[in-house]
Amino acid sequence: MDLMEFQAKELFAKHDVPVTLGTVIENAAEAETAAAQLGGRVVVKAQVKVGGRGKAGGVKLAENPTEAVARANEILGMDIKGHTVQRVLLAPAADIAEEYYFSFLVDRSNRAYLCIASIEGGVEIEEVARTNPDAVAKVSIDPQTGVDDAKAAEIVAATRFPAAVADQAVDLVKKLWDVFIKEDASLVEVNPLVRLGDGTLEALDGKVTLDENADFRHEDHAMFEDKAATDPLEQEARDKGLNYVKLDGEVGIIGNGAGLVMSTLDVVAYAGANHSGVKPANFLDIGGGASAEVMANGLQIIIGDEQVKSVFVNVFGGITSCDAVANGIVHALEMLGDEANKPLVVRLDGNNFEEGRRILNDANHPLVTLAETMDGAADRAAELANQN
Ligand SMILES: Nc1ncnc2c1ncn2[C@@H]1O[C@H](COP(=O)(O)OP(=O)(O)OP(=O)(O)O)[C@@H](O)[C@H]1O
Ligand SMILES: [Mg+2]
Repeated sequence: MDLMEFQAKELFAKHDVPVTLGTVIENAAEAETAAAQLGGRVVVKAQVKVGGRGKAGGVKLAENPTEAVARANEILGMDIKGHTVQRVLLAPAADIAEEYYFSFLVDRSNRAYLCIASIEGGVEIEEVARTNPDAVAKVSIDPQTGVDDAKAAEIVAATRFPAAVADQAVDLVKKLWDVFIKEDASLVEVNPLVRLGDGTLEALDGKVTLDENADFRHEDHAMFEDKAATDPLEQEARDKGLNYVKLDGEVGIIGNGAGLVMSTLDVVAYAGANHSGVKPANFLDIGGGASAEVMANGLQIIIGDEQVKSVFVNVFGGITSCDAVANGIVHALEMLGDEANKPLVVRLDGNNFEEGRRILNDANHPLVTLAETMDGAADRAAELANQN
């Protein structure tokens, strides 16, 4: 999960990284009071989860509260690389002496962490790396030992932070490491990290990516979730622990195994070409051991999608046997009752498919059609979607 700047700064503050939190607003009119409280002269910053906001005109200085309203008006609603700006952060204009770049990230290929830092920050680090590679320090970090005093000193020396801020920098590097490790982040980036006129260091921007696999360790991370930006069906699926992605078509898809579901999307798109171009409506992998409950949850999400006109259940029995899946479908339809109102095409193959097909035949549910092959099932599901 990527965080917005103001959220990243909240995490920084929690670990004593020097930041100024400022005020987040959604209506330009609120900028006047907010700016006045922050000292009048403020920077208005678009809060979107993409980089290059400054270049796109999403970071602007306001000399006074009246100007802050004008700048907020300009930035709110602006489109930055496909992201609409719904909030701006107002931060006191800082007296910047120097801008540095600092980051911790996961270095997968070396099975380590990596620190990338430069005293030529503020601008795009990729640009500095291209034009002046010597100015970019890269320090590998052993995950077993992490960043201790010695490692922090090594990073500060490699970056060539000015002597006057070296001690502060060592302290700050350790605090940012706390953010990275204690919050289970896969990226912590500060650009710019600034030296202010009074000689102190401050994180003036923050970019943090949290590892969602560690959410169970961090109840407080739920507050960073942008529920408004998540598709409601995807949110519901996530709450039910399902691996679901909403797509734009009419044929709902349920399968077991990510690879099978992806090829199901392909065959449905291919079959759809013969049926007015209907397309897959979603990706849904119910994984192994499809219980009736998981099947019912999956069907409920898919049927709840108004765009869906038919559903294709494509299961290849491996560890999960087809009779268990067939029973799951029958029970799921019972559980859903009247809610189940869209035709289902079911293809069962692999482990114990005869028994699975027999169960579905015996159940003789009016909405269920059995298909022998994946291509045949895709064609039938596309045809039904086109008819409904
Ligand atoms: N509080 C502030 N006071 C003064 N200047 C600021 C302040 N915040 C940002 N700036 C200036 O604006 C520049 C861009 O700000 P920032 O780094 O937050 O956005 P960005 O780099 O354009 O966005 P992104 O990091 O998403 O690419 C900074 O390099 C800095 O010079
Ligand atoms: Mg930046």
